Amino acid sequence: MGIMDKFKDLGTAYDDVKSAGRDPFSVRFDEILSPTEGVIDGKKTILLGTNNYLGLTFDKRSVEQAVSVLRESGTGTTGSRIANGSYGWHQRLENDLAEFFGRRHAMMFTTGYQANLGIIATLAGRDDHLVIDADSHACIYDACKLTSAQVTRFKHNDPVDLGKRLSRLKSQGGNIIVVTEGIFSMLGDKAPLREIAAVTKKFGAYLVVDEAHSMGVLGVNGRGLAEEQGVEDQVDFILGTFSKSLGAIGGFCVSNIDDFDLLRVACRPYMFTASLPASVVASVVTSLEKVQKGQFLREKLMGNAKRLYDGLQSAGFHVGPDVSPVVAVQLPSPEMAVAYWNALLDEGLYVNLALPPATPMGQALLRSSVSAVHTHQQIDKAISLITKVSRDFGAIIPERITSVG
Ligand SMILES: Cc1ncc(COP(=O)(O)O)c(C=O)c1O
Repeated sequence: MGIMDKFKDLGTAYDDVKSAGRDPFSVRFDEILSPTEGVIDGKKTILLGTNNYLGLTFDKRSVEQAVSVLRESGTGTTGSRIANGSYGWHQRLENDLAEFFGRRHAMMFTTGYQANLGIIATLAGRDDHLVIDADSHACIYDACKLTSAQVTRFKHNDPVDLGKRLSRLKSQGGNIIVVTEGIFSMLGDKAPLREIAAVTKKFGAYLVVDEAHSMGVLGVNGRGLAEEQGVEDQVDFILGTFSKSLGAIGGFCVSNIDDFDLLRVACRPYMFTASLPASVVASVVTSLEKVQKGQFLREKLMGNAKRLYDGLQSAGFHVGPDVSPVVAVQLPSPEMAVAYWNALLDEGLYVNLALPPATPMGQALLRSSVSAVHTHQQIDKAISLITKVSRDFGAIIPERITSVG
């Protein structure tokens, strides 16, 4: 057997997806015109799948800051912080993040994926227990592969099931670390964090929340779901990314735990990879100020999210359980989702195609992410294009789609 033979089934499935039109896993933007518009295959296209929640990728001050630091500090750091040292900008952003979240400590990673991988896998030692939401993002699952702790899943967003599992684990000794997310990335649903925090603390466990899709989006100050639900004091570690509402790349963890800085010499996805270029970090420093003062942007974002969610729901589509900037339409089969996705691109609308096994309950989804800087016209056009494509497929009228899921 050849080394690539194990990917044969994957290759067949990939070929099937590609045979329906474009390759959804290697879309190329000819040009990015703004946070909400690009050119794909020569066609001007509404971007409704970029996680650019506050539209900060083209923020003038952030761009200028990045350019000036790029000139001062060069294109990259060429090494990890423990081997090659930190730049002033790394420390500045960590201080700003700690202050923003009202925590004593912050640590930055090169991506959000690495922040999750590193913190979760490192915190959980051999005699400990990791208890994760079943619908966790791949980076949380990958952290489970890296750890030597025992891993348990609890039913998605189910504090009662979590409680049952914690009560069983409690007698086994070791620390228990519960992991969940703020807004879940595929369906846009929120964790019932107040209830989850209460159960977690009842059993003396630690709570880790990945606010990747909720930082900058939820809470009066943009600190995420823990702020919105008033449980920040019960969350021991907040994880997040700079690649969504902050419009750049990178990840972080904030905490009040004693001896936090020991993680810098224990956490391999921090230690053995190059740190972020100072220019990127500098742009995030500026974008974080925008997030902090971004209540107006958040109101616009939630208005847009509601407009898209309500519009699609009243057109008959089956959307996720909560209104949030992630709005996913469930379709009856992966084949149909691929066909819709291609047809929508032909019409000038870019959304994400999300297929099993990357989706909860094996659903086939057209996943949208709304931005504060989408206009009402763009949102309305997206609704009408999704509805039009649905009607163009003839038998597939939206009413039938509601029976899915
Ligand atoms: C919930 C969640 N956590 C972490 C990540 C990883 O973030 P990054 O893209 O910054 O690596 C993602 C990315 O989509 C995500 O959805």
